[in-house]
Amino acid sequence: MSTPADNDVSLIDARPVAAAVDTPAALADTASASAAAPSNEVATGSAPASNTAPASNTAPAPGNSPQRAYFDHAATTPLRPEVLEAMQPFLLGHFGNANSLHREGKEARQALEQARETIANLIGAVPSEVVFTSGGTESNNTLINGLLRGLRDSRGKSRDDTHVLASAFEHHAVLEPVRRLKRQGYQISLLKPRRDGFIHPDDFVNALRPETALASVMTANNEVGTIQPVEELARLCRQHDVLFHTDAVQALGKIPFRVNQLGIDAASFSAHKIGGPKGVGAFYLRRRTPFAASLLGGGQEGGRRSGTQDVAGAVGLARALELADAERKDNFARLIRLRNHLICGLTELSGRIRLTVPIDVRDLESDALLPGFIPLLVQGLESETMILKLDNAGFAVSGGSACTTGSLEPSHVLLALGLSKDDAYTALRISMGPENTEQQADAFIAAMGRILKPAPVEQGIRQRDYPNQDATLSK
Ligand SMILES: Cc1ncc(COP(=O)(O)O)c(C=O)c1O
Repeated sequence: MSTPADNDVSLIDARPVAAAVDTPAALADTASASAAAPSNEVATGSAPASNTAPASNTAPAPGNSPQRAYFDHAATTPLRPEVLEAMQPFLLGHFGNANSLHREGKEARQALEQARETIANLIGAVPSEVVFTSGGTESNNTLINGLLRGLRDSRGKSRDDTHVLASAFEHHAVLEPVRRLKRQGYQISLLKPRRDGFIHPDDFVNALRPETALASVMTANNEVGTIQPVEELARLCRQHDVLFHTDAVQALGKIPFRVNQLGIDAASFSAHKIGGPKGVGAFYLRRRTPFAASLLGGGQEGGRRSGTQDVAGAVGLARALELADAERKDNFARLIRLRNHLICGLTELSGRIRLTVPIDVRDLESDALLPGFIPLLVQGLESETMILKLDNAGFAVSGGSACTTGSLEPSHVLLALGLSKDDAYTALRISMGPENTEQQADAFIAAMGRILKPAPVEQGIRQRDYPNQDATLSK
């Protein structure tokens, strides 16, 4: 355990990883880029059965027409028709307030509690541990503030005697509340992941202090897709009497996530990453965990989140999770195949394309990276240029996280990983979903081939036309 050096938000360096940050030269047994479709439209012809989207998704999903391939599922996903169907009765006929005593209220209450029970069963919790919110951002803010306030109330510790540890590549919905805690007088430190994209348990335990009260490490990173050793980190927290929160927004429904097995105290979820509605989320809070609510009012959700509940939203989240869980195994295998096919094609296409994190090809079948997730660096091409060119070619992809789009700052995630600013400006995030196909992947490789064709010196990184431009961009 370290001792407090000062009261600053100290950035803790992780130990460097030995592994080189090179894309593996060849990926196992997947087709090469030469199979790429020649057209600049997204191909949709017939495909081998194993690589077509599942039957329930054969109708083109919104944003996934013959002219478009939506490869940005980490930003958001289309609402699934089955989810809309489940929600509809509570948007129209069954409009009651779940807190009213009459029949309309009881109908709404029954649906709300059924949704809570479904979610609890699927994450290994009991229903009273599930609280509905307006999304991942609210869940993160409420938990971080609420756990600390709860601890202060129950243990009577002062702010300057309380330390909070978070990873340095958390989503802003964790980092910003943590930064505010610093301004309020708490001790804060942000632990950098290693260059491989992971928070390593020995770095983590070294960053704990005698006065650490709360630690927060995301289950899966939203920019590079690496899945963190949450079970081990939670175990270390228990040993040191530290509460452990995880932002599971990118992980829920995509990888096995059981709170009882992970041994965590709190977790944040969002519906729109798994085919549910936007503006709907939930958090898990272990029974008897110290907590003080942020939203005060009518005392709904057991006093942990006041406000009339969005019954249709809760029903939508439960249905989306139910579907994601039922299809997870099949989707996992398909998306890993698709991911490997795309990585293979892209890296064979050009030596300028490499994976952002040094995931070894042998690990691609493993649980190191979210399925369907491909974090890339494309040497000599700015993210914005690539995103716009790919958009014109029919593909929706992202550079960094969509929530920070518009910011000219390089991604804090990539900088925390130790990338240079120049490299961080060349990041591309491809995140595929169940409806994506191998034909789309091939068409994407072909489109990248066309985009990369001009020599790097002709097309290379230009000075941006923005104020506050970073001089390091001009080459
Ligand atoms: C890891 C992570 N946490 C939190 C959020 C915020 O979730 P929401 O959009 O539901 O507020 C996101 C959204 O991108 C995310 O990726």
